[in-house]
Amino acid sequence: MRRKLIAGNWKMNGSLAANAALLAGIKAELGEPACDVAVCAPAPYFAQCQAALSGSTIAWGGQDLSAHESGAYTGEVAASMLRDFGCQYVIVGHSERRAYHAETNELVAQKMLRALKAGLTPIVCVGETLAEREAEQTGRVVGQQIDAVLAAVDTEALANIVIAYEPVWAIGTGKTATPQMAQEVHAILRAALAAKNTAAAAGVRILYGGSMKPDNAKELLAMPDIDGGLIGGAALKAPDFLAIIRAA
Ligand code: PGA
Repeated sequence: MRRKLIAGNWKMNGSLAANAALLAGIKAELGEPACDVAVCAPAPYFAQCQAALSGSTIAWGGQDLSAHESGAYTGEVAASMLRDFGCQYVIVGHSERRAYHAETNELVAQKMLRALKAGLTPIVCVGETLAEREAEQTGRVVGQQIDAVLAAVDTEALANIVIAYEPVWAIGTGKTATPQMAQEVHAILRAALAAKNTAAAAGVRILYGGSMKPDNAKELLAMPDIDGGLIGGAALKAPDFLAIIRAA
C-alpha cells in the first residue's frame, strides 16, 4: 500500500511574512494527516521552513538542485546545502525548468542521481505539452522522459524516488486532466517502472500535478495509480492545501 504524498510547489512566490502566515495556517489545522505532506520552497526560505516545521508532520524541500557536487557554479545550489537545512525532498525536472532553463532528460537524470546520493528524495517531473498531446505523442514523450530516469537509477535506489506526472497544458491554467486521462498516463509510467523492477515499481509513488484543487482532488486521488499531488497555486492558500490533504 503506497502512502499518498501531497507536496506543495511554491514556485517563485512568498516572503518571510507570507510564508510564516501560510505555514502557521497549515500547522494549525493539519492534525495527524493520513498522507505525507511536504512544501517545496525557494532556497532562501529553507531556514525559515526548518525553524517552522522541525518536529512537525510537514516535511520541506527544494524546487531544483545543481547536478554538480560543489565548486565554481555561480548561482547554483548543491544537494548538500539542501540537506544542511533539513530538506527531505527536491523537485527535479519541473516543466518550467525544462522549458526556461533548457533542462534535458539527461540533465534531469544527473540531478536525480545527485539528490539520491545526498539522501534527498527526488520528485522527478514528466509531462507532455498540448501540441504533443494533440499529436497523440503523450505516451512517447513521457516514455522517453521516464526511460532517461530509469536508465540512470539502479534498482535499490528506485524505491527512493517519487515521480510526478504534470501535463504542461494543465499547469497553472485551471485545465485539469480528467481522472481517466491522468490514470492512463500513470499506468504507462507504472508499466515503465515495472519493466525495470516489478517489486520496486509497486512501491514508487506517482503524483499528479496540474491545477489540482480542492474540488477535483478527490476524484483524481481515487484513481489506482495516482499516489498524491504536486500542488502549485492551491498550495499557496492554507485552506486549499489543507482541503487537498484531507482529500488524500
Ligand atoms: P499548478 O502547478 O497546481 O498551479 O497547476 C503545479 C506545478 O507546476 O507543480
